[in-house]
Amino acid sequence: MDPDLERMVELLNEIDDILCCPRCDLALSRTKVVVGSGPLDARIVLIGEAPGRNEDEKGEPFVGAAGRNLDALLEKSGIQRRDVYITNVVKCRPPGNRPPRACEIEACHPYLQRQLEAISPKIIVLMGRTAAEAMLERKVNLGKEHGTVIEKGGIKYMITYHPAAMIYNQWLGDTIAGDFKKVSALLLEG
Ligand code: URA
Repeated sequence: MDPDLERMVELLNEIDDILCCPRCDLALSRTKVVVGSGPLDARIVLIGEAPGRNEDEKGEPFVGAAGRNLDALLEKSGIQRRDVYITNVVKCRPPGNRPPRACEIEACHPYLQRQLEAISPKIIVLMGRTAAEAMLERKVNLGKEHGTVIEKGGIKYMITYHPAAMIYNQWLGDTIAGDFKKVSALLLEG
């Protein structure tokens, strides 16, 4: 196992046995728990919704079609994937890729909180409504709020669309790329 993943698993095991997590019913249908990927000293954390089919098989986040879109967005904005930490609001695939339920998000939240405490990033990119609402604890209108930076507890939160949204709405590609460019500018601000 990658040493950063091993260390993160150790930290999350203080909450529950993450790789065999029993905290919600997604445990019954998942193949692998998708903890996250990237260095534990990353300055940027990207948060998506939940693993899809490819992620569930491989145990890694954003390795399918949405992952290819994410790679392209990162490349365009000059951010290296290996420098960012990538995770999801829920760590197990919901059947048929349905949106995660409130009880599943709640059951998984301590893991996400612990990840963020451990990494202590400067910037958190909330990719899609599920991530934005889970982290900001309120309703979010992506059309109005994407590209917005919210400062909370010394961390800058950037709201954007989920990279999978580009699969169905290609015009969104430039919009999301613009948001990611703002992320790289924020990083330069220090
Ligand atoms: N969509 C997500 O939200 N997360 C993944 O890891 C893959 C697709």
